Amino acid sequence: MSLQDREIVLGVTGGIAAYKAVEVLRRLVQQGANVHVVMTRSAQEFVGPLTFQTLARNPVITEMFALTQETDIQHISLARRADLVLIAPATANVIGKFAHGIADDFLTTLLLATRAPILMAPAMNPEMYANGIVQDNIASLRARQVRFIPPGAGETACNEVGVGRLAEVSAIVEAVERFFLQGRDLVGKKVLVTAGPTEEPLDPVRFLSNPSSGKMGYALAEASQNRGAQVVLVSGPTLLAPPPNVDFYPIKTALEMRATVMRELESSDVVIKAAAVADYRPKTMFTSKIKKREGELVVQLERNPDILAEIGSQKRHQVLVGFAAETDDLLANARAKVLQKNLDMIVANNVRSTEIGFRSNENKVLLIYPDGSIEDLPKMSKREVADAILDRVVELVRRRAGADGTRP
Ligand code: CTP
Repeated sequence: MSLQDREIVLGVTGGIAAYKAVEVLRRLVQQGANVHVVMTRSAQEFVGPLTFQTLARNPVITEMFALTQETDIQHISLARRADLVLIAPATANVIGKFAHGIADDFLTTLLLATRAPILMAPAMNPEMYANGIVQDNIASLRARQVRFIPPGAGETACNEVGVGRLAEVSAIVEAVERFFLQGRDLVGKKVLVTAGPTEEPLDPVRFLSNPSSGKMGYALAEASQNRGAQVVLVSGPTLLAPPPNVDFYPIKTALEMRATVMRELESSDVVIKAAAVADYRPKTMFTSKIKKREGELVVQLERNPDILAEIGSQKRHQVLVGFAAETDDLLANARAKVLQKNLDMIVANNVRSTEIGFRSNENKVLLIYPDGSIEDLPKMSKREVADAILDRVVELVRRRAGADGTRP
């Protein structure tokens, strides 16, 4: 009973795959979930509400029904109650409406009103799924933390072959189970995350820095916190608000970052260094603004400590994850860094691309391990990348606990 007492809203939209939602519902109920089914008008053309109602043992909400019940503002109460909203199948239409904030029926209104996490399992004709408009809508929802269960490939009801078939029922149910499991898999662990750029002052009004937005590190801090970890976020200057309930230490320079990180290191179980630390700082910090003169200005730089390498040489029980930002030879450079800095994993991304990496909401990364193995992850929102990284971190923490026998 992996879903005991979970409140799940199952939104069913109008596609031929609507009949598979019946099986999804049956499996969720079997696992102990309390499921509230919401059907769009067109979904009811494919399957009758009575089938869902009988299996869910809860009234099925249809558009018509909702209108007569509007006095108890049902979409708001359900939006508040839900632990998760699952849309399966999700048509191009519902994805498009949600991506553009359109709320013209019960389900789309609930989607806008809820703060519960949302999982969508798209199903549509392959040409529609491949259409750039649909893909843009999916990307825009992903950037807003909506998660997707990707459709499968094969022959669809319209006799076309390609990607667009609703994911297997078992994959959908597993994604729901994984979602709820994730909530708890870092309980009792302390995760130290560094994020953002550092600023290395040259004079009171100038500094050396880089375009890191901090988005990747903040997504990691938030995801770790959601999974139950105690989170320490050490961040250079960014425009982001720190996630609630994390211990937040704003810093400016690499030296300040190093001091805070070293203080927190011993009590941490996981250290993730997503910060873009400046390798050099101006050798002299002028106490007054440098005035312009004729000719060149030569600034001497000196090396900053490599904080990650320092942690790598000192670490004992900690799982250590580094990042590698590269413009060339991504794989070779990242592989060298994972060994040189004694890391458990490195997250490598190509910062030459403008679509991913610095400042973008999306990222496409390789995960590289000290044994040379590589995982090539697809392009995802930074929040999804964060969860993918944490899935591996949890596994590494478990293995470490098994290896030294001292940690449960
Ligand atoms: N890092 C660090 N301290 C530094 C420089 C980098 O802790 N002074 C960490 C970053 O937080 C990141 C990793 O090291 O996790 C890799 O950073 P990157 O800038 O890609 O590489 P460098 O190690 O600085 O190597 P290079 O500049 O030669 O590419």
